[in-house]
Amino acid sequence: MKPAIIVHGGAWDIPDKIWQAHKEGCTKALEKGMEMLETGASAIDAVEECIKIMEMNPVFDAGRGSFLNIDGKIEMDAGIMDGKDLSFGAIGGIDGIYHPVSLARKVMEETEHVFLAGNGAHKFARKMGFQKIPYEKLLVGRELDRWLRIKDDPDFRTRTVFEEDKKGRIDKDGIRVDTVGAVAIDINGDISSATSTGGIPKKMSGRIGDAPIVGCGFYADNLAGGASATGWGEQIMKICMCKTAVDFLSEGLDPMEAARRAVEVLETRVDGSGGIILIDSKGRIGHAYNTPRMAFEFSYAV
Ligand code: GLY
Repeated sequence: MKPAIIVHGGAWDIPDKIWQAHKEGCTKALEKGMEMLETGASAIDAVEECIKIMEMNPVFDAGRGSFLNIDGKIEMDAGIMDGKDLSFGAIGGIDGIYHPVSLARKVMEETEHVFLAGNGAHKFARKMGFQKIPYEKLLVGRELDRWLRIKDDPDFRTRTVFEEDKKGRIDKDGIRVDTVGAVAIDINGDISSATSTGGIPKKMSGRIGDAPIVGCGFYADNLAGGASATGWGEQIMKICMCKTAVDFLSEGLDPMEAARRAVEVLETRVDGSGGIILIDSKGRIGHAYNTPRMAFEFSYAV
């Protein structure tokens, strides 16, 4: 099998002045992932590495650069899945680490469980050797400024942020950022996907979005394909967007059409906004979004 990989850095009304930084952030992650796949790495290693690169890039809402919640805290979510045997791991509401995606993978490989959150997730991170990262290392000035602007605004609504995005109008608090994701197929035909996020601005403490929910923010099944979603998590969850898209692949749709149909379901059933990236079991790529832009890059081995 010829490897292929696709990564995204969020779907929203990304303005020109930060579009290049988004594209470059995706390209940097993609190049590393492709280099790994071409030298025989597994899809799961490649997607984890891509996400780690993007988690360290403050351009994105994942790892460094994450949004702050209503209390001014960072709570990050991530999920990763191996399409070989449908094993997956997920982490909800974690802080104090750079790489939620790697902790999610540890949940998958080192526990009998699939999803950890809260105190137990923190304890597990320490047990797995993740150093406690001070809050200030994850926080970026852009997000502190945003939080100071919106924290006491009684009119601030998540719905408004996403609806303005869809219409191509930047929300009133200015520049946003968004979730990251990666999907890959390796030389053995194994498919993996991963998604990582800081969630949404001014979210309630304890709010968990689609990113760590299997079938919603990520999904991978060697028999059909893999997917990673981005956008309005509450609506993405209602339609189990990644599983919906992979089911379209199982029905025989090509990946571009499956991605388009999944976004159509998001739009028509729940008035949601966002995007999705896909790879099918033949290594073909799909992508679609209903926002003005989605940052993504993909590559096939030649
Ligand atoms: N899609 C990211 C979130 O809603 O948390």
